[in-house]
Amino acid sequence: MKQLTLVALLLASAFFSVAQSPEHIIVKTDQHMADIKPTMWGIFFEDINLAADGGIYAELVKNRSFEFTSPMMGWKEQRKGVTGGSLWVLNRGAANQNNPRYVRVQNALSGNYGITNEGFRGMGVMKDKQYDFSVWARWAKGSEVKLRIELVNVKGEVIGTAKLVTGSGDWKKYAVSFTSSATDPKAQLSIWFEGKGSVDLDMISLFPKDTWKNRTGGMRADLVQLLADLKPGFLRFPGGCIVEGRDLANRYQWKKTVGKVEDRELIINRWNTEFANRSTPDYFQSFGLGFYEYFLLSEDIGASPLPILNCGMACQYNTSELVPTDQLDPYVQDALDLIEFANGSVQTKWGKLRAAMGHPAPFNLKMMGVGNEQWGPQYIERYTYFAKTIKQKYPSVQLVSSVGPGAEDDRFRFLNDTLRKMHADILDEHYYKSPEWFLQNAKRYDDYDRKGPKIFAGEYAAHSVGIPNGKTKNNWRSALAEAAFMTGLERNADVVTMASYAPLLAHVDGWQWSPDLIWFDNLQSYGSPNYYVQKLFSNNRGSYTVPIEMNGKMIAGQDSLYASASMDKNSNELIIKIANTIGKEQTVSFDLEGLKKADSKAVLTYLQSNDMNEVNSLEKPLAVAPLTKEVEVKNKVLRATLLPNSFSVIRIKL
Ligand code: AHR
Repeated sequence: MKQLTLVALLLASAFFSVAQSPEHIIVKTDQHMADIKPTMWGIFFEDINLAADGGIYAELVKNRSFEFTSPMMGWKEQRKGVTGGSLWVLNRGAANQNNPRYVRVQNALSGNYGITNEGFRGMGVMKDKQYDFSVWARWAKGSEVKLRIELVNVKGEVIGTAKLVTGSGDWKKYAVSFTSSATDPKAQLSIWFEGKGSVDLDMISLFPKDTWKNRTGGMRADLVQLLADLKPGFLRFPGGCIVEGRDLANRYQWKKTVGKVEDRELIINRWNTEFANRSTPDYFQSFGLGFYEYFLLSEDIGASPLPILNCGMACQYNTSELVPTDQLDPYVQDALDLIEFANGSVQTKWGKLRAAMGHPAPFNLKMMGVGNEQWGPQYIERYTYFAKTIKQKYPSVQLVSSVGPGAEDDRFRFLNDTLRKMHADILDEHYYKSPEWFLQNAKRYDDYDRKGPKIFAGEYAAHSVGIPNGKTKNNWRSALAEAAFMTGLERNADVVTMASYAPLLAHVDGWQWSPDLIWFDNLQSYGSPNYYVQKLFSNNRGSYTVPIEMNGKMIAGQDSLYASASMDKNSNELIIKIANTIGKEQTVSFDLEGLKKADSKAVLTYLQSNDMNEVNSLEKPLAVAPLTKEVEVKNKVLRATLLPNSFSVIRIKL
């Protein structure tokens, strides 16, 4: 019996040591594979899910210029014991084509008469913070009407107030500031009218004083900070399908988004009506966040600007409207003028506008997208004309071209083959696929033509189920699959030169598409687990890749491991990224070939959860967030234990 127990013990320990024997991984630190472009990991911005209006653009008043389809949407007339008093929406028509509507208020003879704006699902305001109210107004002759501005909390209590006295008979902008005495995510703004007479109002606006870089009329600082923390290589804007529009009339036209904000023509946001079950009737584009602001944002966060322009095609999932090829010139001219706006001298027409808006120095635009998710020979015809004309004038501008909305269907194959034959610069691949697809496709680029066009993984995200039903969460399963896949992007950095998760931002009460990288309400914001995956990649980019192998092969699924390695020339560090996509711990031993120093210290940063459905939330923003620990290199070997279902980044000082 005793003998039997001993044998069993020996067998068990033999099995245990086999199971525990470390995976041997070789990192060839002295072999330079491919340079990793500074643009490698970037950001995709689209005004979807209230990303711009109601999101990063810090304006708190919804429908500030009464230009929504229903002019009083978001506004409520207030009548407390009122006799008389009226409000009319007037339309100046051609006299102010971009912003024709305003309201005329005839004050009541008695009682309290006013209007209230509900904000974007309320207004997020903070205790002791300053708020800047402004309005364009004009008083009727003899009018004595004064404006009492009140910020009201969700219980109806006044938490901030200011007054504007009677002003001029010509349109002028008036401004006054006040401090909020309380924090409230769902405050509202009221304007009460006092005194006899009538007044015309337009562009009624309320901004926090504390915006990103304290810019007047600027952006929400917490959201921009989350973007800046990514240290993105590029910023793609303004989308996405929003570039295309449901029809051509509704396409994104950059020239209508620059200059004074009060002159920017508002249009419906295409996501307003896109998904019946997530319809958002109050979703419009005010363009307070326009192309100038996008360029400035790119500069602020150190990202290369990548604008995408309409190429004479409306969204092919909607109307599919096409501009006849002999009428494409205005579209191509928009592209040429945009390059001048971004890079031209201040003597040029568009460079002069850039300078007038506050930025005489060029924005250093180097790339531009022609169309978003277009497909078919119609795209090729239009792309060809764009490319020829743009390259003639600006040969060094790199063009991003569409290869359709899928990454492996017939539309993709046609465009991929055709554009490769045309020697296109950069192909924009999109994939919203299952987590399993991402794991299986970690080798996707290993066989791509090394001499062909570069790849921009322009929109991707792991989706477990459909998009607008809210069931697809930013859970750890999706984030880990993306991390595994991204090691494949990095390993192929000679082919894949840019990549961005999509979409970027989503308001918890106003989204149309889920999952998204960053979620927010009117006061707070948090990064999803997918955000931290992106951040770990972009904050640990490295200058060039080096081989990392197991059993003589790159690591893309063997023993459920996925890995890439790079050297950072600036900090003189080796960076290993490794995803363990199985629910058991794995011990790995990295043999660091080519090291000069045998022993050194390293820092291992990891993301992990035992629950693959774990998500971050406003209540638990860091449920899945990076943690660090120290590890050591001894005799050119680093041993590390990879937790079940974890993603680790190891930085080794050389
Ligand atoms: O990222 C959301 C949408 O997905 C984009 O607007 C579009 O390009 C893609 O279909």
